[in-house]
Amino acid sequence: MNILVIGSGGREHALCWKIAQSQLLTSLYCAPGNGGISDVASCVDLDITDHIGIIAFCNDHGINLVVVGPEAPLVAGLVNDLSAANILAFGPNAEPAMLEGSKGFTKDICAEYNIPTAAYGRFSDIDKAKAYVREQGAPIVVKADGLAAGKGVILAQTETEALGAVDFIFDGAFGEAGAEVVIEEFMTGEEASFFAIADGTTALPLISAQDHKAVGEGDTGPNTGGMGAYSPAAVMTEAMCARVMKEIINPTVAAMAKMGKPYSGLLFAGLMITDEGPKLIEYNCRFGDPECQVLMMRMKSDIVPLLIASAKGDLSKQTILWDEKAALAVVLAANGYPGRYSKNTEIQNVAAAEAARGVTVFHAGTRQDDGKLLAIGGRVLNVTARGKNVTEAQRSAYAALDKITWPDGFCRRDIGWRAIERENI
Ligand code: AMP
Ligand code: GLY
Repeated sequence: MNILVIGSGGREHALCWKIAQSQLLTSLYCAPGNGGISDVASCVDLDITDHIGIIAFCNDHGINLVVVGPEAPLVAGLVNDLSAANILAFGPNAEPAMLEGSKGFTKDICAEYNIPTAAYGRFSDIDKAKAYVREQGAPIVVKADGLAAGKGVILAQTETEALGAVDFIFDGAFGEAGAEVVIEEFMTGEEASFFAIADGTTALPLISAQDHKAVGEGDTGPNTGGMGAYSPAAVMTEAMCARVMKEIINPTVAAMAKMGKPYSGLLFAGLMITDEGPKLIEYNCRFGDPECQVLMMRMKSDIVPLLIASAKGDLSKQTILWDEKAALAVVLAANGYPGRYSKNTEIQNVAAAEAARGVTVFHAGTRQDDGKLLAIGGRVLNVTARGKNVTEAQRSAYAALDKITWPDGFCRRDIGWRAIERENI
């Protein structure tokens, strides 16, 4: 079969790398792709906001399945439009993608269906929002309701900071995404990410991972899209995964079906594992980046039958096998990221990094230019390695990464530290 992947990040490179191993594949395309994806797929220069153009490409190239990587096209209804054109697509329609597109929407579902999450209020009126902050006190969490590229969350330690955050969001810091705010109880515990795949009525568990959002070592500095990830997350024991399926994922999928907005595709739960048990922080309607890279490294089954079964609405015959080994990905980013950085700097010796056993380098912001590899984005490479545990995977990942020559890039040197601290007790 012919498959088109939409996106251009490390997540999409990992998906293409995995799909390229499938026995079912004839041709693989990626739009727009990047300098690494072009090794495993034909990159096509399509504008991913141009749904009509994507549909025309699918018809011209006999595409049997479209896999949508990022949230923006999902929230924009790309899957709705593909389905209307009779093209099978993996990922939720726009209405169920609201689980990521609106934090308030998700919180209301949690409240109605008893899904454990932080206590909250939703406000479109600034005075009412401030009154709620004063009533609840600090620490407290203030969030823009809509998509804000992971930046719309302010963890306020004081009431003054929280009131400032309310002003900041209502002043338009996040544009339309901040027309409404969600104000939440500050939860404490250990964070983990858990992934499931849904078919509209049921869900199958995948595995857990842990991201590193802050740019600096020891989780300091501004937040980024993610500087590294590993899988599994130690807090996500088998019993905890089962609890998350029973208390969070399954009730959500059932609620969405009941509301007439059946959820199919990947469901990514950001969790806080508190003393009272797992609580939902937020949902994403797609794979995480760089979490997808470690998930794909650990998935032993062919992914294509799973993607098709989800898109067709019947996961009942699917099983998924995982590698017991751990996987860890370190992000190499351009100096200055997440602030200003320069583009078109040259990267060398990626092949030397990939020569090591169990190591794969997934590309994000790269472009091939006349035999040279150039960095064209903030997050640029994901050096991903397997190991018998996180300690070993980390060692291999950094050993490989140190073979890459790129004076204009940097990475965190402590990806996996929480797990490694535990492993070394
Ligand atoms: P989100 O974009 O909603 O995942 O939030 C970004 C980050 O803020 C999360 O990964 C958590 O570290 C933190 N966070 C969000 N909501 C809460 C909460 N209610 N309590 C504590 N931390 C939170
Ligand atoms: N790495 C976090 C995310 O993809 O949302």
